[in-house]
Amino acid sequence: MADQGRIVILTGAGISAESGLGTFRDAGGVWAQHAVEDVATPEGFAHNPARVHAFYNDRRAQAAAAVPNAAHEALTRLEARHPGEVTIVTQNVDALHERAGSRNVIHMHGELARALCAACGHRWPAPAAMAPDDACPACGAAATRPDVVWFGEVPYGLERIDAALAAADLFVAIGTSGQVYPAAAYAQHAARLGAGTLELNLEPSANSRGFDVARHGPATRIVPAWVEEVLGS
Ligand code: OAD
Repeated sequence: MADQGRIVILTGAGISAESGLGTFRDAGGVWAQHAVEDVATPEGFAHNPARVHAFYNDRRAQAAAAVPNAAHEALTRLEARHPGEVTIVTQNVDALHERAGSRNVIHMHGELARALCAACGHRWPAPAAMAPDDACPACGAAATRPDVVWFGEVPYGLERIDAALAAADLFVAIGTSGQVYPAAAYAQHAARLGAGTLELNLEPSANSRGFDVARHGPATRIVPAWVEEVLGS
C-alpha cells in the first residue's frame, strides 16, 4: 500500500454500532423504522416539523447516552501518534469521535448537538429537546431545525474534504455501506488522485471491490488492529 503519511478516514454508522447506536440500512436499522422522506428531507420537515424534531430528539438522547468504543479510541490514538496528518470525515451526527478525543473531524452530515436557524443561518448548541416553536436566539424566528444535512441538501465541509482527499496518501472507509453520495465516491476519487484505499467494514460494502484492500469484521476488532499496524506497535 502507498506511503501512509497523510491519512483520510471516512466513517459511517458502522463505527458507532457497537456503542449501541443503530445503523441505517442493516436489518432493523433506522430506515426500516422511519421513512427517509418523512424525517430526513426539507419537504418532510416543512410538512411535519414536530415529527422531525421528535425523531432527532430521540436520536440526540441515544447519542448522548452512548459512549465511544474501541474503534473511536483507536482513531484518536492514530491522530495523536501518527507523524502525518490524520483527518476524519464522518457521516455520523453523533459526537463519539470528539468524545473519544479526536480533534480533526469534519461532520459532513452535520451534528445532533447543534441547532440551525433556517431563517438567518445562526447556529448554536442544541438543547436536549427541540420543538417547532423554539425561537432562534439571534433573530427570534420560529424556524429552528437540527443542524443536520438532509437528502437534497449540500453536505458540509466539501472544500476541506476535497483538499484532504487531494493530499491523501491513504484513504480508509470504516463502517459505511457506500450508498450515499458524495461520500460513496471518495474512495474512487482518492485513488484517482494517487492514494491507497482500504475498507474496514463488517461485510463487503457496495464499493468493496473498488478498494485496494478490504478487511471485514466488527469495527472494535479490526480498527484497533489496523491502527496498531500503522503505528508499528
Ligand atoms: P449504513 O447503515 O448505510 O451502513 C452501515 C455500514 O456499517 C454497513 O455496511 C454495515 O455492514 C456496517 N456495520 C454495521 N455494524 C458494524 C460494525 N460493528 N463494525 C463495522 N461495520 C459495521 O450507514 P452509513 O453508510 O453511515 O445520511 O449511511 C450513510 C448515510 O445514510 C448516513 O449518514 C445518513 C444515512 O441516510 C443522512 O441521513 C443524510
